[in-house]
Amino acid sequence: MAKVVAGIGTSHIPLIGAAMDNGSMHGEYWQRFVGGVQVARDWMETVKPDVCLIVFNDHASAFSLESVATFSIGVAPEFHPADEGYGPRQVPSCQGHSEFAWHIAESLILDEFDMTIVNQMDVDHGLTVPLSVMYGQPSEWPCKVIPLAVNVVQYPQPTGNRCFNLGKAIRKAVESFPDDITVAIFGTGGLSHQLQGERAGLINTEYDCNWLDKMVEDPMAVKDISHTEYIREAGSEGIEAIMWLVMRGAMDEKVDEVYRFTHAPVSNSHYGLTLLENKCDRVTSDVLTFKE
Ligand code: DHB
Ligand code: FE
Repeated sequence: MAKVVAGIGTSHIPLIGAAMDNGSMHGEYWQRFVGGVQVARDWMETVKPDVCLIVFNDHASAFSLESVATFSIGVAPEFHPADEGYGPRQVPSCQGHSEFAWHIAESLILDEFDMTIVNQMDVDHGLTVPLSVMYGQPSEWPCKVIPLAVNVVQYPQPTGNRCFNLGKAIRKAVESFPDDITVAIFGTGGLSHQLQGERAGLINTEYDCNWLDKMVEDPMAVKDISHTEYIREAGSEGIEAIMWLVMRGAMDEKVDEVYRFTHAPVSNSHYGLTLLENKCDRVTSDVLTFKE
């Protein structure tokens, strides 16, 4: 049986990818961030998931606004980095897992989540930056990747509750796949940021940290937060955080937060990272800390 062994929440800020690709991730600006994510990379080497199921959003790279699907799953054998206007990132292409992805698609659709099936898509910073955060700069990604895209860009987005329930359905789909493979599920995006308008530059670390506490310990307390609240408190793009609720829904009710790291600002955002393991079924044994 396939098994969800870890839940990862991470922002997907494009500047992180650019700085890694350009070899400019050094100096005072990056020092704390580099130390903070290294702890997560070390943990990832122990967890070593066979498959990363990455819940992300496309930023009008693979999908134009001509048609916007609420939830999509990539079933292709391979996903190339998208050209976001300055050439594709020089990172490896992602190897998919078509058989498993089709299985998940079928299970979700029979569970009445009407997924859009994507046979071809390039993946933008929403997916490649989380991989870079967790794995650094290898010549090949050491896992298979299943992209699951959520529309958080075009109103009306799905509710947090729907995202949370999608996570539960993903867990069921994973556990009904017969192969003994391990899966890490990523929720990406956020935390607070606003890239446009009069409030451009908004960051609300206090709101984010409270939200993170509840997302981990008591997700029922955050799953029904309205879109208006996210936009008011966490900025127009802060709503990306609903994707973390998909990840949380796929984990047990009780989790151990093995590690948390936050830093502001990174680019225009409050960077957030959380590593979760199921309390009753830990794959590692420690709680990790970052020594500042
Ligand atoms: C930034 C963050 C995002 O999530 C994104 O998609 C684009 C830009 C930023 O902080 O600059
Ligand atoms: Fe984004």
